[in-house]
Amino acid sequence: MGNVDIHFHLLPGVDDGPSSVDESLALASAAVADGTQTVVATPHVHPQHITEPAQIPELVRELVDRLRRQRIGLDVRPGGELAHQMVQRLTDPELQAIAQGTRGHRWVLLEAPFAGLDDRFTEAADELRHRGFGTVIAHPERTMQTPATDAALARERVAGSVLQLTAGSFTGLYGERTRADALTLLRSAPRAVIASDAHGGARMPALRSAVHELTAVGEGAASRFVADIPYSLLKHGLIADYRACDRGAKITKAVWWRRGVAQSSVRRSPNGVPPRE
Ligand SMILES: [Fe+2]
Repeated sequence: MGNVDIHFHLLPGVDDGPSSVDESLALASAAVADGTQTVVATPHVHPQHITEPAQIPELVRELVDRLRRQRIGLDVRPGGELAHQMVQRLTDPELQAIAQGTRGHRWVLLEAPFAGLDDRFTEAADELRHRGFGTVIAHPERTMQTPATDAALARERVAGSVLQLTAGSFTGLYGERTRADALTLLRSAPRAVIASDAHGGARMPALRSAVHELTAVGEGAASRFVADIPYSLLKHGLIADYRACDRGAKITKAVWWRRGVAQSSVRRSPNGVPPRE
């Protein structure tokens, strides 16, 4: 089985990914060379990069046609990296246009904001579940690791969300602190996926390197994070367990009660926000 990359900025000229079709084709070739068979094209659906969700399937069809003509053997599917601020603005058909999974088990890639997770993020994730969409949380290891982030991620785990960690985080692309956070999250998550979040330039497909890094630190069968688990997400989908939301809130409080001592040792900068490298 080839690798499956569920977070990949491949479409030309729509966000901060490739700026031309030629750059998209080069990035697709790099993914194939890295052992990837399937990519979900996930342009930003974000207030600063508003890619119209309804246009994404057609943009993917056009790119697939170019890939076929260039004989680049990469399966590309439509998706999107959804900012939590956009959830209320999108209609259900727009969410469907960027969702993956099977009928009744559709899910979207929901971006963890770099400033940290807060109540607005949780409200957006809850709204998605109530509207029938499961959530895969994009790059939580690259967000501010605050107590609020920790609590929100604990709640997401209870609600059945899957964490998507970034391949470059394991290879050290974002520094040692992010690498350590990625390993901690990977080992604490019941289900996790590793994706490249490739944009081109310094952020190239790196699933194979991530698997090597994880194997080197003793993580057995690490290829499941880039192959079996994401493949299953595409083939079988994810359940939107909105009934777990209230239960999750209670469990989160219990987790924080038990972790009261640990909270006092959270890394903090003078303004109360943990520093990042
Ligand atoms: Fe991304």
